[in-house]
Amino acid sequence: MSTFSLRALNDPNPAEIQLYKELRLQCGWDDDLVDHWFEQASKHIRVNLLCELQDPNQMESQVVGMIALVLQDDDDVQMADVSTKTAMIKSLFIKPEYQGRGYGKESIRLLEDFAVKQYGIETMTLETSASSKKNMAFYIKLGYAEFRERSPPLPWSKLGAAYMSKKLIPPTE
Ligand SMILES: CC(C)(COP(=O)(O)OP(=O)(O)OC[C@H]1O[C@@H](n2cnc3c(N)ncnc32)[C@H](O)[C@@H]1OP(=O)(O)O)[C@@H](O)C(=O)NCCC(=O)NCCS
Repeated sequence: MSTFSLRALNDPNPAEIQLYKELRLQCGWDDDLVDHWFEQASKHIRVNLLCELQDPNQMESQVVGMIALVLQDDDDVQMADVSTKTAMIKSLFIKPEYQGRGYGKESIRLLEDFAVKQYGIETMTLETSASSKKNMAFYIKLGYAEFRERSPPLPWSKLGAAYMSKKLIPPTE
């Protein structure tokens, strides 16, 4: 049976940065922020991760998507701020051929776990298009709820951006 996991690109090589750019393009966004994301990662305010499937009979793992954890956003501290133990999920994308198999859900679960264990995060936030019923339903199922007013309409979202959050349960000793 294949094992699904997240791998943080803490010390990425050029091929991994290129792969991140390709995933971003596949997702339908542009890749111009990717270099900046890795600069943020080197300052420890963002973690860029790959979603991977490992088949025990194969040497190489299969990349099925991407996800990121933002630890500090000085432009919007309600979304990510070390002092309030709040972090934000960003850039989630599961390749179309792997969608609908539970990997999106598992990516969120593993990222929450990582955030609690590595950084003591207590509140997880995210921003998504309020126009995408599919994405809203996906996050609601995972326990997220809107916590502040939506943004005005945006070019990519007629109903504006929805800001969602969830309290994370710390591990019991
Ligand atoms: C959103 C996304 C990450 C979901 O990943 P996924 O691997 O397809 O989702 P999963 O298979 O883990 O599904 C998890 C739950 O969401 C539900 N779901 C998934 N796709 C759905 C859809 N099209 N409509 C309604 N529910 C859906 C599933 O039924 C499942 O519910 P269940 O646990 O009750 O069975 C994926 O579709 C994606 O990468 N989309 C493009 C990029 C994007 O929109 N990213 C999010 C930006 S905020």
